[in-house]
Amino acid sequence: MTYSWIAASAFGLEGAIAGELRRLGLSDVKAENGSVRFSGSLLDGYRCNLSLRFSDRVYLLLAEGACQSFEDLFQLVSSVPWENYTSGLEFFHLSAQCARSRLMSPRDCQSVSKKAILERLRARTGRRLFPETGAEFPVHVAVHSDTVRILLDTSGSSLSRRGYRTWNGEAPLRETLAAALVEFSPWRPGQPLCDPCCGTGTLLIEAALRQAHMAPGLRRTFSMESFSFFPRAEAAALKADLEGACLPDRITGIFGSDRDPEAIDLANRHLLQAGLKGRIPLRVLPLQDLTVPETNGVFLCNPPYGERLGDQASCRDLYRDLGLLHHRHPSWSLCAISSDPSFEKAFGRRADKKRRLYNGRLECQLYTFMGQRLR
Ligand SMILES: C[S@@+](CC[C@H](N)C(=O)[O-])C[C@H]1O[C@@H](n2cnc3c(N)ncnc32)[C@H](O)[C@@H]1O
Repeated sequence: MTYSWIAASAFGLEGAIAGELRRLGLSDVKAENGSVRFSGSLLDGYRCNLSLRFSDRVYLLLAEGACQSFEDLFQLVSSVPWENYTSGLEFFHLSAQCARSRLMSPRDCQSVSKKAILERLRARTGRRLFPETGAEFPVHVAVHSDTVRILLDTSGSSLSRRGYRTWNGEAPLRETLAAALVEFSPWRPGQPLCDPCCGTGTLLIEAALRQAHMAPGLRRTFSMESFSFFPRAEAAALKADLEGACLPDRITGIFGSDRDPEAIDLANRHLLQAGLKGRIPLRVLPLQDLTVPETNGVFLCNPPYGERLGDQASCRDLYRDLGLLHHRHPSWSLCAISSDPSFEKAFGRRADKKRRLYNGRLECQLYTFMGQRLR
C-alpha cells in the first residue's frame, strides 16, 4: 500500500532532502517550504528514517484539509481510520503548531483532536475505555494558513540525533546541518577533508558516514518500530541490508584538529560511539600552526561566530587566520559557516560561493573559497 509522507526540513535544506529522496527511488517528491512530500510504503518510511541525512523527522500524512473552526478540525481528525493504525492500547501523545490561521491555540487543537480520535475509536471498535498504557503514538497537528495536516511522527526524537553524540562541546552543529554542509561543500569522497576547528567532530563524522555508505540512523530506534502496523520482518531485513552495505574501510583522508584538548577528547568518544574508532586522525593544534602535506583537499569548518559581545574581535582574528591557512594551501578549497557579515572582510577575500543557511535560529552563510587544483 502507498502512503503520503512528509520529511521535515530546516530552512534551506528542502532541495537537498528532495535529492536524497529521489536517490532512494521514492516517487511524487515535491519540495515545499519547510518540508518535502513523497509517496511510498511503510517500509519506504522506515528506509527514510534510517537513511535521510538532512531531514529532521519523517511523518506519515494521515489527513489534510482546510479548517476554519474546531468543528472542521474535529471532522478532519474523525475522517482518519484510526482503528487501522492502533491496537487500542497506545498512549496518544498529541502535539500541535499553529501559524497564520484562525485556529491559533495549539492546546485546543490538541484536545479537540484527541477527543476526535477517541470518539472514532469508540464508535468503530465498540471499546469504551482506552487505558493508554502502551507505546507512545505521537500525533502532530500542523495548522498553517487555515490548512491542517494530521501527521503521525514515525521518527520519535529528531533524526539529527544519530546516537553517536552524547557529550556536547562548545556550540556543536546539529548533525543534519553538518551533513548538509558536507553535501554543499566541494568535497567528494576520495578527496582529503580536514576540519581545522573540529570541536566534537560532527562534520568529520558526517563526512565519514557518507564516504562509508553508512546510513545515519543505524544506531538508534524510531517511534514507528513500536506501532502495531510496523512491518517488523521486512524492516529487520532492510536494516540488515543497510548494515551489510557499510564500507568503513573506505574512510581515508578525513582528519581534523582543534586547539582545545577537551574538544578532541569528546570528538574521540563520538568517533567510538559512531563505530569509527581509529578511522579519523585528530590532533590538538591551533589552526595557526596547521600545515598539511596533501593536495587538492577541502577544509570544512564551523568556527565560533562571536555572537557574544566582546568575542567578535577574536573571532575576526580567527577568520583572518583561516584566510592565511587557505593561502598556505592554495590547492585546497575552504568552506566555513558563520553568522558574522564581516567574515569575508576578515578572511581577506570574497567567497566564490555563498549559501544562506540557518544554524538553529541564527541566519548564517556558508562561504566557499575554491582552491586551484594541482594535477
Ligand atoms: C563552534 S565550535 C565547533 C563545533 C563543532 N563543529 C562541533 O560540532 O562540535 C568552534 C571550535 O573552534 C575551536 N577553535 C577556536 N579557535 C581555534 C583555533 N585558533 N584553532 C583551532 N581551533 C579553534 C574551538 O575550540 C571550538 O571547538
